[in-house]
Amino acid sequence: KNALANELRSPIICVLGHVDTGKTKILDHIRKSNVQTGEAGGITQQIGATFVPIQTVKDRTECLNQKGKLELNVPGLLIIDTPGHESFSNLRSRGSSLCDLSILVIDLMHGLEPQTIESIKLLKKGKTPFVVALNKIDRLYGWVAHDNLNFTATMKKQTENVKIEFKDRCNQILGQLAEQGLNACLYHENKDIRKTVSVVPTSAHTGEGIPDLMMLVVQLTQRMMAERLAFVDILQCTVLEVKVLLGLGTTIDVILSQGKLREGDQIVVSGLDGPITSQLQHDPTYAVILAFDVKVDKDAQDMCKEMGVTLFTADIIYHLFDNFTAHLAAIKAKKKEENAHLAWF
Ligand code: GTP
Ligand code: MG
Ligand code: NA
Repeated sequence: KNALANELRSPIICVLGHVDTGKTKILDHIRKSNVQTGEAGGITQQIGATFVPIQTVKDRTECLNQKGKLELNVPGLLIIDTPGHESFSNLRSRGSSLCDLSILVIDLMHGLEPQTIESIKLLKKGKTPFVVALNKIDRLYGWVAHDNLNFTATMKKQTENVKIEFKDRCNQILGQLAEQGLNACLYHENKDIRKTVSVVPTSAHTGEGIPDLMMLVVQLTQRMMAERLAFVDILQCTVLEVKVLLGLGTTIDVILSQGKLREGDQIVVSGLDGPITSQLQHDPTYAVILAFDVKVDKDAQDMCKEMGVTLFTADIIYHLFDNFTAHLAAIKAKKKEENAHLAWF
């Protein structure tokens, strides 16, 4: 209803790349968590969302933004991790299709790999802007770590041999990107962010270059997509995944990218045996997870039947982020996917 002037929503950032390039580790570093070591075989098998509040971005980019030149206007970053294993191309495609901007992670020591190329194709197809994180710089022979320092500063402190090896590997990868039809260069040398892909060298182990990566992502989203990020009070959300959680039953992870949710708002989801309605018990605050009781009501049932939407029986978990969250008047079944588990609102 009331479009709020100058209010921006959080950009949705999707992390893509070949298996084991360090996607989850980079996120672990940003949110100070340790998800990666808990994964079976260290392999991500699902798509997951993390909200990074703007204060975290401010804290982590302090070494770059001392003069306060860049105003940070977004409430935070909503980052989606995807698996790099070849068998999860459906999840990569899903993540890249709903994001505003992507971080493509490439292992500096390996260069482009099959799922890197697959990811590039997805990004091109969806016309999704992206940056490259050239990860694992700490693995260069002789690298001296300076934890959490920005890239140019830590690079200055390295020996001549390290600088040469970095340059060689980096140039080789820029060449491989060119073979994929991409103009790319180191981010601080990029003169045209609309035509050239920015490359940020990082280490998820030492945190070097992570400030640069966070700053770049905020800059790009604010500069290139202010209009797209303008907050409007129209609900827009996407089901990420349906899964069974112990103690909660079947749950649905939903990304709410536009609109607001308030206490008392009614939510309607279609179920196999009919529609499921639920009311928000609280005004959502950021990054809370709410579970809803399941109830089926007649009106909603009729509405879903009319729309012919796929039906789920489920408890619902909503990941609610900040003022992202909204007011669901009706289900809009925009798209029926082949995979019934992944319905669109
Ligand atoms: P999938 O989700 O399975 O595709 O992998 P991923 O891209 O999320 O990579 P993950 O975070 O699981 O990291 C893979 C391995 O690389 C782990 O053993 C990490 O500890 C290691 N690793 C990640 N980032 C770095 C880095 O910057 N430096 C070094 N030395 N190792 C790293
Ligand atoms: Mg992972
Ligand atoms: Na991994």
